[in-house]
Amino acid sequence: DKIVLLGAPVEAGNHQRGCLMGPDAYRSAGLPENLAALGLNLRDLGNAEPLTVVDARSPIGKPFELQKVAGWTRSLFAHARTLAQGDALPVYLGGDHSMSLGTVSGHAAAAQEAGRPLFVLWLDAHADFNTFETSETGHLHGMPLAYACGLPGFEPLLGESLVATVDPGRVCILGLRSVDRSEGRLLRDAGVEAHDMRAIDEAGVERLLEPFLERVATEGGYLHVSLDVDFLDPVIAPGVGTTVPGGATFREAHLVMEMLHDSGLVSSLDLAELNPFLDERGRTARLMSDLTASLFGRRVLDRPTRSY
Ligand code: ARG
Ligand code: MN
Ligand code: MN
Ligand code: MN
Repeated sequence: DKIVLLGAPVEAGNHQRGCLMGPDAYRSAGLPENLAALGLNLRDLGNAEPLTVVDARSPIGKPFELQKVAGWTRSLFAHARTLAQGDALPVYLGGDHSMSLGTVSGHAAAAQEAGRPLFVLWLDAHADFNTFETSETGHLHGMPLAYACGLPGFEPLLGESLVATVDPGRVCILGLRSVDRSEGRLLRDAGVEAHDMRAIDEAGVERLLEPFLERVATEGGYLHVSLDVDFLDPVIAPGVGTTVPGGATFREAHLVMEMLHDSGLVSSLDLAELNPFLDERGRTARLMSDLTASLFGRRVLDRPTRSY
């Protein structure tokens, strides 16, 4: 099994600095060695670079650092579209969540070219479903899922509209505990499957995730996973600018990753929002690396693999 790592040191998606250091923190935490130890064939492509964009303007809202984020979106869109066609599974090391404006839309384009549906699993305290119009902060890290699903007004990012969008009916969000009012309306109108922490408390991650994985398998889809550090409880993962109390526990998060591994369905992965400047002695970078290892098959005991 082959994996490629691509750093996406974008931090212009919000006001807080530090996500720039994310990709290097994963390397310092030993993420590449963790994966290599599983016997995976690993290639680190280093960090992507943004294109220079000077012409991106929006008549609606006040998107923060639009030129910079547009430069990253154009760069990562092209990288993702190309990497999706290779034989290695891409892991994008962020970077704030505005990285996914490019990665998810790039994988959507490639999936359309391959004639297969793209499913997206969004692991996050937030829905990241704002548009330029609804965003209360202007932060582009709060918009990537809305963008990938084809909500209107985002043309300045690529300089054109998206040729391929993700069907909101093929998205599953887990871990929600902070959704803006109008963002919540957009989510509901789009028909996105969204599970908040209460749903995890009541049903457990297994019962929420399993039906979604079954659908991916039945429809022969690709599966892009976008893991935001703030999916995790801030007590175990403090290295993120947008902590919200009451997140996924260590065990819940590992179970999600183990189920993803057993499914054999994951085709690309974002690691988003790690802010090493806010971390405590590298523990968040290490936890994210360990979760990634779980997703790629690290386990304590062998057990019969489940199929979906
Ligand atoms: N909903 C808020 C906003 O639009 C928070 C988004 C947080 N997103 C994230 N990727 N951490 O700014
Ligand atoms: Mn996010
Ligand atoms: Mn978040
Ligand atoms: Mn924000």
